[in-house]
Amino acid sequence: MERVIIKTADGSDSLYVKDLNEHYHSIHGAVQESQHVFIDAGLKYISARNKNISVLEIGFGTGLNAFLTFIESSKVDLIINYTALETYPLEMDLIEKLNYAECLNEEKDILKTIHACDWEKEIAVSKNFILHKIKNSLQKIILSDLYDLIYFDAFGPNVQPEMWTEELFSKLFSALKPEGVLVTYCAKGEVKRILKRVGFDVESLKGPPGKREMVRATKK
Ligand SMILES: C[S@@+](CC[C@H](N)C(=O)[O-])C[C@H]1O[C@@H](n2cnc3c(N)ncnc32)[C@H](O)[C@@H]1O
Repeated sequence: MERVIIKTADGSDSLYVKDLNEHYHSIHGAVQESQHVFIDAGLKYISARNKNISVLEIGFGTGLNAFLTFIESSKVDLIINYTALETYPLEMDLIEKLNYAECLNEEKDILKTIHACDWEKEIAVSKNFILHKIKNSLQKIILSDLYDLIYFDAFGPNVQPEMWTEELFSKLFSALKPEGVLVTYCAKGEVKRILKRVGFDVESLKGPPGKREMVRATKK
């Protein structure tokens, strides 16, 4: 699948997938969206009660969510065990062209290190951030650990409906600890109904710039 770098409205890069006619992030701002949905509504919400957090990301992609989580872990001294699933890892030469370090005023090497980490191994990227990247699909993987927080960042339900099913959300519900939380940028009515059916308490929160709503779902 061919991926092309595009510039989003906040100046940060994203990728466009021609075959799917879909972007990796919101065209209204990639960094803004990831910060708002995954860090502010997810990580900061959980870290108010717990400093030792296990995160599962569905769709590692550019590594932007991992990078932002790494930054937050060192800023406020969290211990993060970060597991990320990805079926189609990106090439390093594409990663090196993304401007996230520049946008965030961070060392470029960190994003590169995150991508260079071996797959299927737990790697301490820092004393605060342990990364376990898994090259497998959500459909096939057996999730035997329990997580505090899930970043659900698959392609949208219009282009990848097989990721937004009751079966997969039920699998994710089982992979959360009690009071664990799943956050996603998608607030479609049908997605919220599925989340409720599998047992989540569903909140519609204000979305990032350019999007009305996002969803935070809690396993009560
Ligand atoms: C919206 S994009 C990723 C966004 C990513 N979090 C980022 O910040 O770049 C969705 C990602 O999910 C991956 N993906 C597609 N199908 C998948 C599956 N069945 N299981 C896990 N990941 C999948 C895609 O390859 C893509 O990298």
